Amino acid sequence: MPLMGFGTYGRTGAAGIAAISLALETGYRHLDTAQDYNTEREVGEAVRASGLARNEVFLTTKVATQNFAEGRLVPSLRKSCEEIGVDQVDLALIHWPSPRGEVPLATYLTQLAEAQSLGLASLMGVSNFTIALLEEAEAILGKGAIVNNQVELNPYITNAKLAAYCNSREISVTCYQPISKGRLKDDPVLTRIGKQHGASVEQVALAWEMARGYCAIPTSSRAERIRSNYEATRLSLAPDEIAAIDALDRGRRAVDPAWGPEWD
Ligand SMILES: NC(=O)c1ccc[n+]([C@@H]2O[C@H](COP(=O)([O-])OP(=O)(O)OC[C@H]3O[C@@H](n4cnc5c(N)ncnc54)[C@H](OP(=O)(O)O)[C@@H]3O)[C@@H](O)[C@H]2O)c1
Repeated sequence: MPLMGFGTYGRTGAAGIAAISLALETGYRHLDTAQDYNTEREVGEAVRASGLARNEVFLTTKVATQNFAEGRLVPSLRKSCEEIGVDQVDLALIHWPSPRGEVPLATYLTQLAEAQSLGLASLMGVSNFTIALLEEAEAILGKGAIVNNQVELNPYITNAKLAAYCNSREISVTCYQPISKGRLKDDPVLTRIGKQHGASVEQVALAWEMARGYCAIPTSSRAERIRSNYEATRLSLAPDEIAAIDALDRGRRAVDPAWGPEWD
């Protein structure tokens, strides 16, 4: 799973296909979509137009909460594969835990496992899961079944406790909002480190995430940002710089719906 991926939230229509195509041209080999984003078709079109072989691009999609009820998840993932134009996605995630626990975890996780055994997804994961939910998931599916947890994570919300737990269970972490939607831009520590490397604060944040072993999936509609964010893959931070960024945590969560889980 390439550590640098391209997020596709908002990348709809012709402009979306152009942005995803540019991302592939730039070197991104991991695309993040979801049933709720309306970008699965755009992802498929951009991959086909790129001329890259299917196995050269890692594709993640996410199952929407409205598809959790018994009998709904497998057909929804089959439809996702059709929209993208592939037989199988590389990683299928549960997008959010069921709001207010309306659908029991076992109901949708066992359907996700069924989808995997049918070949609709190579790997299974979750998103916005807490430690308690990951423990429950392990009790339902067994150790090692869930391989990834996609959560909000950037220097202002480092999610250190959850990330350490994921690491201890060999669950990889993917950072969404990895550049906090541009909110890091005036940070003095990131600016200072960036100046030392001739890099932007966004590149420093992304390099920090990858240095920690996380995937990062920034998105942009702008060509220069699609390219400059990718350049973070060339930026190597020193241990003291990584430690200084670890200390920036403010627990500042931007994506926090009322129906979300009890965060760690
Ligand atoms: N699992 C989940 O629940 C969940 C939730 C949220 C997001 N996601 C995924 O994570 C991906 C990324 O998250 P996100 O889109 O919310 O946030 P993000 O990648 O942190 O930020 C994207 C925003 O920042 C701007 N931007 C991009 N590059 C920039 C740069 N170098 N300097 C300054 N601003 C920059 C973009 O605007 P311009 O277009 O104007 O450049 C865009 O508005 C999404 O696309 C989606 O795939 C998942």
